[in-house]
Amino acid sequence: MLPSRVISTMQQHPPNPKIETDGLTSGSRIVRACLRKPVDRPPVWFLRQAGRYMPEYQAVRKHHSLLEICKKPELAAEVTVTAAEKLGVDAAIIFADLLLPFEPMGLDFEFQAGEGPVVHKPVRTFDDVKRLRTDRAAELGYVAEAIQKVVTHFKDRIGIIGFCGAPFTLASYMIEGGSSRNYIAAKTMMYRQPDAWRLLMDKLVAVLREYVKQQVEAGADVIQIFDSWVGVLSVEDYRDFVLPITKTLIREVQSFGVPVIYFGVETASLLPAMRETGADVLGLDWRTPLGDIWKSLDCSCAVQGNLDPITLFAEPELIRERVKQILTQAGGRPGHIFNLGHGIVPGTPVENVQHVVRFVRELSAEVKRG
Ligand code: CP3
Repeated sequence: MLPSRVISTMQQHPPNPKIETDGLTSGSRIVRACLRKPVDRPPVWFLRQAGRYMPEYQAVRKHHSLLEICKKPELAAEVTVTAAEKLGVDAAIIFADLLLPFEPMGLDFEFQAGEGPVVHKPVRTFDDVKRLRTDRAAELGYVAEAIQKVVTHFKDRIGIIGFCGAPFTLASYMIEGGSSRNYIAAKTMMYRQPDAWRLLMDKLVAVLREYVKQQVEAGADVIQIFDSWVGVLSVEDYRDFVLPITKTLIREVQSFGVPVIYFGVETASLLPAMRETGADVLGLDWRTPLGDIWKSLDCSCAVQGNLDPITLFAEPELIRERVKQILTQAGGRPGHIFNLGHGIVPGTPVENVQHVVRFVRELSAEVKRG
């Protein structure tokens, strides 16, 4: 049974009070925006809102590794709640990491300072893929537990966003063994070992489906699927090797009764194909003006974005101007979620992030009035 706070993206499901009320909570504001229903103003939250730029996070990080924080629900919930409260955003994204599902699949990895994630024995052959386990997703229950704690704190006050990696981006870490420049190993498997690639995609989706289901049952209102590095693919490769399986995952997640935000970077040329996954919302990077992209998609889905995260290092006046430009491009149309085009980076002044929240509130009223 899904809990009553879960709303539905599917027409046949009964209407949920959370999206039908006039007096909007922040939680209903983001859910409504995902579904392109009218809202009083666009909801706002930030990719990586609970990260190293925040002193409260650094304080927790002094005593715990990243994985410890992820695996201790009290800590993960605390970091999530602190960031969302401090910023006054409309949604809290659960503190976790993309690579957590690797462990129950039998792949050891660690985060090395300055290097990002390192997978000790990258997946390269069909036998490597065959060895990956798909029956231990229950071991990821600590993320759902953290979500429950965040829900207990916020109730319906703000939206709770769960997340997972998309099949391509997760596979690229598994095969490359870490971050990559040209994705040669990942693309080589895709081209030359189609059976291994397909099995890997299927196994990832089997695990992600269970993992996301736990998150929704714990109270996540929305699921974001991070396909951060999908922009390295040509449209043809995306269509042949990635689109069908991603569509399958997104449909499954929607069948749990929550909207899906599908996000990647440097995706301008891929967006029409990414739209075909049926995701409720596409997350946009900052390289193309939001209005142009949205129009090119015939406004047929909601969009999230797309302030350049490095703009947060500018003076408030310039930040205000850029926020206004994005709101103007969105034109008050239902289905815009204000966010950055990628995650907040370390060193970002926290007060500038708070300014953005204030600017979105102030300026969306102005833009609406014209
Ligand atoms: O507030 C939030 O947004 C939630 C927390 C969150 C983390 N990772 C915590 C984290 C989220 C949403 C992620 C997702 C994630 N993890 C992505 C996709 C997001 C994106 O930016 O597109 C990716 C690619 C990963 C894998 C990963 N985790 C990398 C590449 C790194 C190293 C990055 C770096 O700058 O060093 C991480 C580490 C990580 N995950 C950190 C945090 C706060 C920073 C490291 C730390 O605290 O030690």
